Amino acid sequence: MDNLVNILYIVAFALFIYGLMGLTGPKTAVRGNWIAAVGMGIAVVATLIAVRDTGNWILIVAGLVVGVALGVPPAKYTKMTAMPQLVAAFNGVGGGTVALIAWAEFIDTTGFSAFKHGEEPTVHIIVGSLFAAIIGSISFWGSLIAFGKLQEILPGKPIGVGKLQQPLNLLLLIVSVAAAVVIGVRASDGGAPWWWMVLLLIAAGILGLMVVLPIGGADMPVVISLLNALTGLSAAAAGLALNNTAMIVAGMIVGASGTILTNLMAKAMNRSIPAIVAGGFGGGGTAPGASGGEQKQAKATSAADAAIQMAYANQVIVVPGYGMAVAQAQHAVKEMAALLEAKGVEVKYAIHPVAGRMPGHMNVLLAEAEVSYDAMKEMDDVNGEFNRTDVALVIGANDVTNPAAREDKASPIYGMPVLNVDQARSVIVLKRSMNSGFAGIDNPLFYADHTSMLFGDAKKSVGAVTEELKAL
Ligand code: TAP
Repeated sequence: MDNLVNILYIVAFALFIYGLMGLTGPKTAVRGNWIAAVGMGIAVVATLIAVRDTGNWILIVAGLVVGVALGVPPAKYTKMTAMPQLVAAFNGVGGGTVALIAWAEFIDTTGFSAFKHGEEPTVHIIVGSLFAAIIGSISFWGSLIAFGKLQEILPGKPIGVGKLQQPLNLLLLIVSVAAAVVIGVRASDGGAPWWWMVLLLIAAGILGLMVVLPIGGADMPVVISLLNALTGLSAAAAGLALNNTAMIVAGMIVGASGTILTNLMAKAMNRSIPAIVAGGFGGGGTAPGASGGEQKQAKATSAADAAIQMAYANQVIVVPGYGMAVAQAQHAVKEMAALLEAKGVEVKYAIHPVAGRMPGHMNVLLAEAEVSYDAMKEMDDVNGEFNRTDVALVIGANDVTNPAAREDKASPIYGMPVLNVDQARSVIVLKRSMNSGFAGIDNPLFYADHTSMLFGDAKKSVGAVTEELKAL
């Protein structure tokens, strides 16, 4: 039976890795997700076989029922725009689970104190469960705050205690590590009393809260990715303590992929990870960008004008952003593009890596509307094309088109790579108002001479343009 369990675990790892490979492209992502899910199912079955004689089956079945009942409805019904907070919540549950495993392992081996009931634990059990307890607790409480901010239950602006923040965080870290050291050292010496473990979990939990509270809303998706990487590492550590290879491998995969994703997101936003963790950006309080106090007026246009401009263009580049996701305009966009193509216009889609609120957000929405993958162009591939493009149609995008990121050294997003939308011959921007985007800053593109604004909800505006195109 042990061999069977190990074979099933190896099959599960292979499926995790194969599934992850599928997630590297939109064409294979859904299949990749299914493959990884089957891998996880096999790992669960293998674990149930492994604990067949020792597990408490009433608790196991109750856990499975509660888990399925709590997990399936949000996974099925959460809107695409609310995915980041769902990921934060699921990640928090993962971190909390790992901290609980560490706690259970502690009770199991120490019988609450002095190893009265258990055998003396080995070094890998001690180190693994203590690391898991600290990181799991940080990740659980940090993820709860991230969820609260993204769900707007908590204010998105940074909340901190000013200059005391860093010393306080350091103190909490020292207390958690010191408690871990006491527990570790006393493990072979009768065992530390239970309250050392409680102290460790509380100090690490407060550290999780204190680290995430001062981070502004705009950086939250990066923070979630970072917390996700930490949860992976803590799961791997718990796997070490439990001597469970599936947890070690799955945890390391999550830790490694989460770290890579965090780096990519931070790079695309031109932010360093230490700067994000230090907090202070994205609270919405940033000053307007380039216009230097000069009052500029944006030009409004109509659906009819927009339709005429595009119908007589050779090439139109659609630039989707967060507003397209909010308006759920992707199907309307596809219908409009089909009409343009029927009139001989070439339509392409420019995808910025951090457009929207999560990696691949725009690709997923456009793929849902059956836009061909060949028409979706990554930023580096499409940026050279804007100066040869007649019309750039910006649909609910803002920050990712802001030329201040290229030109204005004083701008908070200076250095962030952006789409060169301003280089198109004509720019039409669909949004509801002159409000700023996620970074909370003004966009000089909206005031440029060759830009016109089509105000309104993106889905309604695209629908109106489509009707005009039909009439042409
Ligand atoms: P944003 O800069 O956030 O701008 C979105 C615009 O959509 C807003 O200015 C808003 O203007 C408009 N909008 C909202 N609802 C709309 C609707 N129903 N119809 C029409 N327009 C609507 O979006 P972006 O350009 O996609 O940039 C993404 C931002 O998120 C960047 O700052 C990026 O760094 C940040 N971010 C992204 C990620 C990932 S991984 N994607 C992660 C972290 C942070 P109105 O209110 O005037 O309509």
